[in-house]
Amino acid sequence: MRVTVVGSGFVGQTTAMRLVQKGLAEVILIDIVEGLPQGLALDIRESSPIEGFEPNVTGTNDYADTAGSDVVVVTAGFPRQPGMSRMDLLGKNAGIVREVVERVTPGSPNAIIIVVTNPLDEMTFLASQVSGFPKERVVGMAGVLDSARLRYFIAEELGVSPLAVEAMTLGSHGESMVPLPRHATVGGKPLAELVDEATLERLYQRTRDAGAEIVALLKKGSAYYAPSAAIARMVEAITRNTEELLPVCAWCTGQYGITDVYVGVPVRLSPSGVAEIVELDLNGEELEALRAAAEGIRAKCADLAKL
Ligand SMILES: NC(=O)c1ccc[n+]([C@@H]2O[C@H](COP(=O)([O-])OP(=O)(O)OC[C@H]3O[C@@H](n4cnc5c(N)ncnc54)[C@H](O)[C@@H]3O)[C@@H](O)[C@H]2O)c1
Repeated sequence: MRVTVVGSGFVGQTTAMRLVQKGLAEVILIDIVEGLPQGLALDIRESSPIEGFEPNVTGTNDYADTAGSDVVVVTAGFPRQPGMSRMDLLGKNAGIVREVVERVTPGSPNAIIIVVTNPLDEMTFLASQVSGFPKERVVGMAGVLDSARLRYFIAEELGVSPLAVEAMTLGSHGESMVPLPRHATVGGKPLAELVDEATLERLYQRTRDAGAEIVALLKKGSAYYAPSAAIARMVEAITRNTEELLPVCAWCTGQYGITDVYVGVPVRLSPSGVAEIVELDLNGEELEALRAAAEGIRAKCADLAKL
């Protein structure tokens, strides 16, 4: 499999490193900055004798080198800066994502696009429109990251291994994230039996604010280790056809009573893209929150027309 990672900033370069170290694919790293992807790819290759992986990564500034990709990960664009409004970010990154998709898709007409650039839901919708690809071949990454953050915070709170914690968030990044307490377990036990309501709410709020918590600590730039791990997991589900259930920003066609909008839902990815959107047993409150998140995204996507 060939995976192109567009954007060689913090998220793009760590994603390339994870993919090649895991041996998931041949990786092509591309950026507009001359020398940057080439230098990073060389640096990664030079670590291969120590880490013991196939040095299957190259850097380029030329889209011709990305032809025949099975997966394209779009990380090109700006992270949100202090003082930048959502519309400012939307305007800047919409131009970048449009250009990237226009340039990468002619050589890779059968690729699956994983959008990472923020604002995530709008950029995923835009990539789907610009590519003209079937909707099941354009997805966005947010839920795998949010779920990992929540799992980590639960593990930290309870003093257990993060691997013992299962939890999934649906909906969107931030305030419209939909946590599913009834589906969260620690060592197989329901989470709700282990922590009280106030603790649960505190952990959810920390997860909603997790991106901002990192930005505040870093002062400039945003998170990339956990985001790149989340991207690599999605790529692995595609390239190795693991059939793992992952929360993915995907186009709904009636699932959960949601139609014609991108929103975070449980998905099985395959080498053809979204193989299935799985309808978990949600209660009335959870369904209402998911539908509200979907409507919020629909309204935000309408802003793309105002640019
Ligand atoms: N979905 C998520 O959960 C999630 C998580 C983390 C970051 N992000 C987003 O990912 C994006 C990248 O974050 P980062 O930390 O890597 O930023 P960064 O500034 O480190 O890197 C961005 C890279 O994009 C490149 N770029 C800009 N315009 C380009 C173009 N037209 N073609 C090719 N490359 C271009 C830049 O040269 C730069 O190398 C941001 O929008 C950020 O908000 C999303």
